[in-house]
Amino acid sequence: MELRFSTASPIDLAGDALVAFVAEGSTAELSTLDSAFGGQLQPWLTARAFTGAEGQLVSMPTLGRIAAPQLVVVGIGDAALARVRTAAGRAARELRASKARHIGAWLGANADPDRRLAAQEGFGIGTYAFERRPEKELTPALSSVSFAVTSGRPDVAEGHEEVIHRWQDWVRDLVNSPAAEIYPETLAARAGALTRHGCTLEVWDETRLKAEGCVGILAVGQGSARPPRIIRVSWNPPGATRQVALVGKGVTFDSGGLSLKPSAGMQTMRCDMAGAATVLGAVGAAAELGLPVAIDVWVAAVENMTGSAAYKLGDILTYSNGVTVEIHNTDAEGRLVLADCLIQASKYPATEVLDLATLTGACVVAIGQDFSGLFTSDDALAGALMNAANQAGEGLWRLPLHKPYKDQLKAEWAQLRNVGSRDAGATTAALFLEHFVGKEKRWAHLDIAGPALIEKASGMFAAGATGQPLRTLLRWLS
Ligand code: BES
Ligand code: MN
Ligand code: ZN
Repeated sequence: MELRFSTASPIDLAGDALVAFVAEGSTAELSTLDSAFGGQLQPWLTARAFTGAEGQLVSMPTLGRIAAPQLVVVGIGDAALARVRTAAGRAARELRASKARHIGAWLGANADPDRRLAAQEGFGIGTYAFERRPEKELTPALSSVSFAVTSGRPDVAEGHEEVIHRWQDWVRDLVNSPAAEIYPETLAARAGALTRHGCTLEVWDETRLKAEGCVGILAVGQGSARPPRIIRVSWNPPGATRQVALVGKGVTFDSGGLSLKPSAGMQTMRCDMAGAATVLGAVGAAAELGLPVAIDVWVAAVENMTGSAAYKLGDILTYSNGVTVEIHNTDAEGRLVLADCLIQASKYPATEVLDLATLTGACVVAIGQDFSGLFTSDDALAGALMNAANQAGEGLWRLPLHKPYKDQLKAEWAQLRNVGSRDAGATTAALFLEHFVGKEKRWAHLDIAGPALIEKASGMFAAGATGQPLRTLLRWLS
């Protein structure tokens, strides 16, 4: 999406549409436009009860009164950046449906560069679509936005946003792609894109996984014709000021295994590698932006299927850190494969370890599709992540990592069982993971099962993968 800056009046901005942003109660700011419409714009807005409240959006043909043939007026409520971002995203979704490619944007009387950046972010997020249709039915993405400005040039943040937007699309495409295309080996091949930006890539095949004692990944993968992999990516900039590890759940399809999911629950399970896609996108963007943070990425790429060699209930796994696990449900596979990666990541000097996983339906039941669940016993780390999420405009909500619930994971024949009771399912999954993280690490677990893939378009997001919380990770890293 190309950015342009024009000191021309919004009335003269050419393109397929003009988007005007209006704060609550500030429709009077539209006076220049109103004059172009011979004073008929204000009454038209009033008749539609448009006040500039958050979420309002009205659209009209301009019939030659201004240069752009379509006018979209969006409400931004209190004009907070999050409102501006969401309004831009909604407008972009609307405009994509009407096949607009070049748009003008007028951000209101008091627009500053931060507001412009928020609008740029929203337009980028909102214009994404994943479509597999005949060519003539495809709707084009926005290809340029001309901002009406009083003065000014693009700044650094706007350049960064172009990179972040591209990586978010990369993550969304990866998550939306069918499991027939994305399986452990092809996911590893896609990670090859990162080497173009100076990252190093290492892929562990089954021989290596056996040698390293990655019993969780091997057990989950053994029911599939597609062999599992660990994908390890490192970004090691000279003079790095921090060292972090990012671990991603890369279950390229989750049938549930022998504890088979019902069809409805299985339909979207190509999204079960969203954690992997997001951490890979984060290191790709960090490398392209040249962030001075060393990042060690570990992805457990595996397909959870029901083949004749599938792992079974009652199996006992002995992890390379000595922890033993009794299998009570083969659909609780995410924690089993993350465990191997957390053990591996803990062997390296990273001080902070974050894992991202579409781990539990329980998390979605608790906080829905607008939030990822955050689990950590480190208040400072929680604060930093919450800050990053708030700035990025992505939903993140801290949930309890409540130690007494560990009792739910006690097993009869081994140290742990891989599922607890029905209560606090997202918490017991997090408590399970904690057994595999090095004691000296600052660790946080993000359960992204809600936002990973949404079934209906909502806010800025088209139906499908949202790419969250990539922007939170990047804010936290920088
Ligand atoms: N991949 C699922 C979790 C999930 C659910 C992701 C909905 C995205 C949307 C995970 O592997 C799973 O099946 N979890 C089980 C755990 C249970 C068996 C303890 C679940 O949530 O039902
Ligand atoms: Mn599962
Ligand atoms: Zn899963």
